[in-house]
Amino acid sequence: MIIGIPKEIKNNENRVALTPAGAQELVKRGHTVYIQETAGIGSGFPDHMYTEAGAKILPTISEVYQIAEMIMKVKEPIEAEYDLIREDQLLFTYFHFASYEPLTKAMLKSKSICLAYETVESIHGGLPLLVPMSEVAGRMATQKGANYLEKPLGGKGILMGGVPGTLPAKVMILGGGVVGTQAAWMAAGMKADVTILDVSLPRMRYLSDVMPANVKTRMSNEYNIREMIQTADLIIGAVLIPGAKAPHLITRDMLKDMQPGTVLVDVAVDQGGCIETCKPTTHEDPTFIIDDVLHYCVANMPGAVPYTSTIALTNATLPYALQLAEKGWKKAAQDNYELAKGLNVIHGEVVYKAVADAFDLNYTPVEKYLVG
Ligand SMILES: NC(=O)c1ccc[n+]([C@@H]2O[C@H](COP(=O)([O-])OP(=O)(O)OC[C@H]3O[C@@H](n4cnc5c(N)ncnc54)[C@H](O)[C@@H]3O)[C@@H](O)[C@H]2O)c1
Repeated sequence: MIIGIPKEIKNNENRVALTPAGAQELVKRGHTVYIQETAGIGSGFPDHMYTEAGAKILPTISEVYQIAEMIMKVKEPIEAEYDLIREDQLLFTYFHFASYEPLTKAMLKSKSICLAYETVESIHGGLPLLVPMSEVAGRMATQKGANYLEKPLGGKGILMGGVPGTLPAKVMILGGGVVGTQAAWMAAGMKADVTILDVSLPRMRYLSDVMPANVKTRMSNEYNIREMIQTADLIIGAVLIPGAKAPHLITRDMLKDMQPGTVLVDVAVDQGGCIETCKPTTHEDPTFIIDDVLHYCVANMPGAVPYTSTIALTNATLPYALQLAEKGWKKAAQDNYELAKGLNVIHGEVVYKAVADAFDLNYTPVEKYLVG
């Protein structure tokens, strides 16, 4: 198959959909990989690394779209790319269709095949192509929080692990899923005093089995949250209720009960946030202060570490890309339920129910294309 990797053109997006190592795996199996000039540079992969891995460089984005049977990207196509997409072309990338109607309409019009990273689903119900970015954001949440606890940056002026003879920082993590667990590992490694609050007892049992002694678990409810925020130094929001807006576990009125210089990092801000006062911020202007409490609410945290994020993402996407390249989208989806769940739009029809429902569009069950 001919695979094309365009350079991401969305503002401040430095990731790329394929590493040189990934290109080498595809080329080794007889596929042809075209990558747009300088597409990997923001992630630390200059063009020569791709040519050495057997890929070919094309100077413009239109040449990449023109030649490729499968386009691999990171972010959804933006308006400037809509007309480059060809009928029958397979697009494998994050789409998040339900949040943007013009994109959905443009992809329907293009008659392409859209396989969305975010809806590829494992048989056990997990979302394997979302996990790597949650892992990055979780680890970063602690790194950022530790930094903002420094006095000149607006924090209380407390060192995460303290030093002998002083108490460590109290870190409170709301939600013990992928983000919360990774945040807890980092905070524990820095020797902070960590508590994870969740509503799932099985999850907390698991966490208390695997976490070190400086990580405790506690039931997430208003009573416990109100008590803990009074002494917490760093609070990380990492709650997710699939398909719904995050619940506001920390409300506006609770800020007055926190100590000045408390740091809030709401990773869940991309789903509306679990801290009422958090509004999405950017890497250029990541924080704001309300009632002497510092808020960090960057909606695309992994974008700040494109080297790590690109490798983490492609580690997860490559096994699927290899199946798609080997068999074509139809046979690959027939053989693998996980890929079938990723199909959102085929030849001008919406084949993913939640996307059709979001915009009141006709829904065609994906089986129409996969059976027989
Ligand atoms: N800002 C970013 O850059 C960025 C990057 C990646 C992920 N995220 C977001 O981070 C959030 C967490 O993602 P995840 O992958 O860890 O999800 P996850 O599903 O793995 O974990 C969510 C956890 O929240 C728990 N939970 C649900 N209701 C709760 C409540 N009332 N109190 C406490 N815990 C509760 C669940 O039991 C679960 O353990 C999501 O909103 C995701 O979109 C943001």
